[in-house]
Amino acid sequence: MTQRIGIVTGGGDCPGLNTVIRAVAKAANRRGWEAVGIVGGYEGLLEPQKTRRLVVRELDGLLTRGGTILGTANRGKFSAKVGHGESRDLPRDLLDATLEGFRKLQLSALVSIGGDGSLSIARQLFRHGMPIVGVPKTIDNDLAGTIFTFGFESAVDCATDAVDRLQTTAESHNRVMVLEVMGRYAGWIAIYAGVAGGADVILIPEIPFDYEPIVRKIAEREKQGKHHTIVVAAEGARLKGGGFVTSAQTTGTGEARLGGIGNQIAAELQQLTGKESRCCVLGHLQRGGRPGTFDRVLCTAFGTESVELVARQEFGRMVSFLGTHVGSVPLDEAVDTLKIVPTHGGLVQTARALGVCLGD
Ligand code: F6P
Repeated sequence: MTQRIGIVTGGGDCPGLNTVIRAVAKAANRRGWEAVGIVGGYEGLLEPQKTRRLVVRELDGLLTRGGTILGTANRGKFSAKVGHGESRDLPRDLLDATLEGFRKLQLSALVSIGGDGSLSIARQLFRHGMPIVGVPKTIDNDLAGTIFTFGFESAVDCATDAVDRLQTTAESHNRVMVLEVMGRYAGWIAIYAGVAGGADVILIPEIPFDYEPIVRKIAEREKQGKHHTIVVAAEGARLKGGGFVTSAQTTGTGEARLGGIGNQIAAELQQLTGKESRCCVLGHLQRGGRPGTFDRVLCTAFGTESVELVARQEFGRMVSFLGTHVGSVPLDEAVDTLKIVPTHGGLVQTARALGVCLGD
């Protein structure tokens, strides 16, 4: 049966969104189905509807192009995130209007590409009667139900490159360099980039820190004749008993904008050690640009698998990287609980075995 599949991208952007769009559209086109892009996130389904046909000639160059040609939104009517793994229920009239928009476009299924916020909306729409499948996206890798989200590897590559660069300048100037990376509740980027770049101190939201062990680590390095230290801190890292460091008021997402912990740490370490300490905030560089090799493959497999799910009429599910292959899990497994870095075992243990200071 001919199908008309809608594709929507929601939440913060990341490398690989276009790669998934390309894979879904190509796999759909090969089956003789039509692929329609919903422009500007779920709002594109509401009046005045905004869509874009995704015919084969429109897909050129999408494999490697960062961002999303469909646009995305993590503010406004469809922002569902309110905190650590919590999401807001959308009002019934909004769910009704979205379903009506879906029907008006004569779509047979919707592929929703997003993180925990967008996929919690996908689950609400599914429960409201929309045939929908999810694709896990976020540089933060904090979505449950999949080992890796797409976008994560590319962001880690960017952060690792920054650590490599900071190593050489820190060494030249005998400085402490603090790199602040993204990661609100989960320190996946910080722990991966920290280990990959050989950081001396890694601070993640899962392990509240004290300054004392960091100062000890710097002193130990000085004794070894190493006069520079690299600290990688997630934006959500916080002092024991302290709260998030925020840089701006909430802007409609229900969550405050984080930022500033890196500068605080650098100032405090300079005060405590007498060593010149500087901070570099990596920010949205982690979200922009081309997807890396692993992400390109993951996005392509996610995209084609989501079309398989539509073909098998297996809705209410999210495609997932299960370690050896791409399969799928119910959306229920993906939303509600954030996947945070395990504090015992895994990469935390690897870092500790190397003598990396985790701030505790
Ligand atoms: O969810 C990804 C993320 O990069 C978080 O780590 C960060 O706190 C947030 O997005 C920033 O979003 P925005 O660009 O909307 O400020």
